[in-house]
Amino acid sequence: MFQILLRSGQAEFLEGRIEGMRENSKLLDRIKISVLRYFDVSNDGVVFDDIVGGFTGAAKYKVEVEGRGSYFLKVADEKTHELDAFLIEAEGKIYDFLDKVGLVGDVFPKFDGLISEDGFKILVIDYLDNVSWGGPWNTKTVELLDRTLKRLHTTDLSEGEKKEIIKLADSVRGRLGQKTSEYIESEVDKKKKREEFLKAWDVSGRGFLNAKGEIYFNGNKDLAEEVLDVASSATKVKQTQLIMHDMNFANIGFSKDRAYLVDPVFVGLGSEYFDRTVAGVNILLGLRSGGDLEVKKLVTERFLVNRVALAKLIKYYVDSSFKKLGMSQDAWQKFHQNCAEVALGVFIEMK
Ligand SMILES: Nc1ncnc2c1ncn2[C@@H]1O[C@H](COP(=O)(O)OP(=O)(O)OP(=O)(O)O)[C@@H](O)[C@H]1O
Ligand SMILES: [Mg+2]
Repeated sequence: MFQILLRSGQAEFLEGRIEGMRENSKLLDRIKISVLRYFDVSNDGVVFDDIVGGFTGAAKYKVEVEGRGSYFLKVADEKTHELDAFLIEAEGKIYDFLDKVGLVGDVFPKFDGLISEDGFKILVIDYLDNVSWGGPWNTKTVELLDRTLKRLHTTDLSEGEKKEIIKLADSVRGRLGQKTSEYIESEVDKKKKREEFLKAWDVSGRGFLNAKGEIYFNGNKDLAEEVLDVASSATKVKQTQLIMHDMNFANIGFSKDRAYLVDPVFVGLGSEYFDRTVAGVNILLGLRSGGDLEVKKLVTERFLVNRVALAKLIKYYVDSSFKKLGMSQDAWQKFHQNCAEVALGVFIEMK
């Protein structure tokens, strides 16, 4: 999880929830009891390692179980971290679904199970060894990610399975106060959003404005209108494929011959172009200072292929960079501005 911030604009939502769980040795003792019971082993054959870092209040561990292998644990206590616990349980249900449709151990790591005890939610998945996260971006990793996304997006779902994943995705979105599949945008809302977006366009400077009132990305006078028109153009993009929705780099790991996705809590139905466009823009941003031309070309060819999806994303990036959110969101907004710049560059070239 993380893209949750990037997509929903709810950056504040995590503040103050990061502290707490990690350095708590009592917590680890409590988790150990549950995990030993789950694997039905004694203390001797098990080694726990804390995995530090991350943005959420969920604690993460690597656990090695003698004779069984290594596992990645994601843990939260409902009593102190209710939302994280909810999200871990939801992730467990989504892993069950992904298992059923044949995607774990391939696109996603193998899912072992969810422990639910005393309000503790513990997600147990295969630990991916020798995996590098979020890059490096080269011809090989771009090809690997392309293959993994194709596999995910072409998953055959029955009508029942579609309903199931829509329900799971809605329960996560609903809990986070995001729009669910039921949401239909009214004409009034559409118009309001259009006006909001145009406020971020500085006609005299012919560029977009960030929250500090600085102009970035110079374009021709109709650029903002064009982005809006393309984003709402009649070429409707089908929203019926299984997609990741959260292409945050920390959720993409590369082994020697595979790209894995982890953290599927936002998996749902949508358009492959959404995942591809987000990935493409982020990779190009990563390659912005330097980076092989051949790799950039490949990224553009494979991922940046739909101008409607790109325009929608630009709207989101521009809006997020323009909102007045206060100092604590500076880095988050700067990141969005950088994404907007890259995406706008592609948008113009794609014409
Ligand atoms: N199966 C795995 N094996 C090894 N490492 C993993 C595995 N799953 C995740 N990781 C590592 O842990 C990190 C966080 O995992 P994940 O994305 O599931 O958590 P999260 O919900 O995003 O939480 P946070 O944002 O706090 O890290 C990943 O970026 C990756 O580096
Ligand atoms: Mg993550």
